[in-house]
Amino acid sequence: MKLKRTDFPPDFRFGAATAAYQIEGHSFGNAGPSHWDTFAKGPGNVVGAEDGAIACDHYHRWEADLDLIRDAGFDAYRFSTSWARVTPDGRTPNPEGLDYYDRLVDGMLARGIEPYLTLYHWDLPSALADIGGWTNRETALRFGDYTDVVLDRIGDRMAGVATLNEPWCVAWLSHFLGHHAPGLRDIRAAARAMHHVMVAHAESMERMRARGQKNAGIVLNFEASYPATDSAADKAAAARQDAIFNRWFIGAICGQGYPEEALEGLRPHMPACWEDDMARIAAPIDWLGVNYYTRGLLKEDRSQPWPHLGSVTGPLDKTQMGWEIYPDGLREVLCRLKDDFVGDLPMMVTENGMARDESQSNGNMGDVERIGFIEGHFQAALDAIAAGVNLNGFFYWSLLDNFEWAFGFEKRFGIVHVDYQSLKRTPKASYHALKAMLYR
Ligand code: FCB
Repeated sequence: MKLKRTDFPPDFRFGAATAAYQIEGHSFGNAGPSHWDTFAKGPGNVVGAEDGAIACDHYHRWEADLDLIRDAGFDAYRFSTSWARVTPDGRTPNPEGLDYYDRLVDGMLARGIEPYLTLYHWDLPSALADIGGWTNRETALRFGDYTDVVLDRIGDRMAGVATLNEPWCVAWLSHFLGHHAPGLRDIRAAARAMHHVMVAHAESMERMRARGQKNAGIVLNFEASYPATDSAADKAAAARQDAIFNRWFIGAICGQGYPEEALEGLRPHMPACWEDDMARIAAPIDWLGVNYYTRGLLKEDRSQPWPHLGSVTGPLDKTQMGWEIYPDGLREVLCRLKDDFVGDLPMMVTENGMARDESQSNGNMGDVERIGFIEGHFQAALDAIAAGVNLNGFFYWSLLDNFEWAFGFEKRFGIVHVDYQSLKRTPKASYHALKAMLYR
């Protein structure tokens, strides 16, 4: 890695990111069932019919995993609390779960690592799935109660808190495209979820304001969405994708409302009186987390229902996910956020990383592609800072190889390799490259 820590502003935070369901092992510690446990049991939903029951067994190995974060020289750790672990029935606190997060946070502080908490990284309690999950407004209100339960216990030690991770995935990917739990393909369910996730964000922010929680915000995912050709139809398709994926959430938070290109299809299916929630949703946040992985090339496809979208595979090098490697899209996304939405609000890159096929490498962890990927995106972050973006942190996704949702354990994003038989951790070359850059 040619870049140095000193190329970044002095208070810039480097971190690693994970999420509870992907690493902890959901069968431990009296966690309640979540909709990912049951979705994973549906035919064809997860590659290899795998689930998060054991995952990386981080629940028992968290001390060694925190040592890995400290030893790499990271300043911060982005983790999530599992809603289904904290309140197994969606309501009643689980002392064992809260004790676990309490120890985990103290473990971070003991190692000089700043805790950045995400309250919802997709592990909805099954009891709430039973009442309709995100299609039911009640879930958003319960999310407020859960916010208080978690922060009563660990809120005093958080450097930053995000309400939800990637509401586009929670709502659209899961209720319209059907790829994630609960696996629906239903526009009415999707429209309701698209709004209720934002009500949940508002509810959680209000609870945090009431308790004086510092540095409260949200993590959104963005892609640079381009038309595949210059045709008017493809340009309009890219604009619809941009509206649903990028602008819906940040536009609402910034008081711009939901974009017309998305409402044209969703309006008839929205919950009653949704407009009345928009002022609450637009309450100020203290920081924005930005997840960025790739760009999208969109075309119109009239064989598909609204929004009539088809995607085109671009010519750039790809990760194991098939995602094009396009670091400059990160600079573009960050500059656009500054110019069109958040101005000088502090931002952090809360996820960026690549899955790489290590099956060929026979235990050889010399992942040069991943090191190049990281360096390319660090450079894009520096370019954004040079252009005036108030970016003050960057978390690599992910610390460990882990349960990659519908892809099971096949896609490996970690800078630390996990052998899923022995659960042994082995730092990869990218871990060592980051350590050489970051360790002071
Ligand atoms: C993001 C998710 C994260 C991980 C990465 C690869 O969408 O937030 O949990 O799956 O993608």
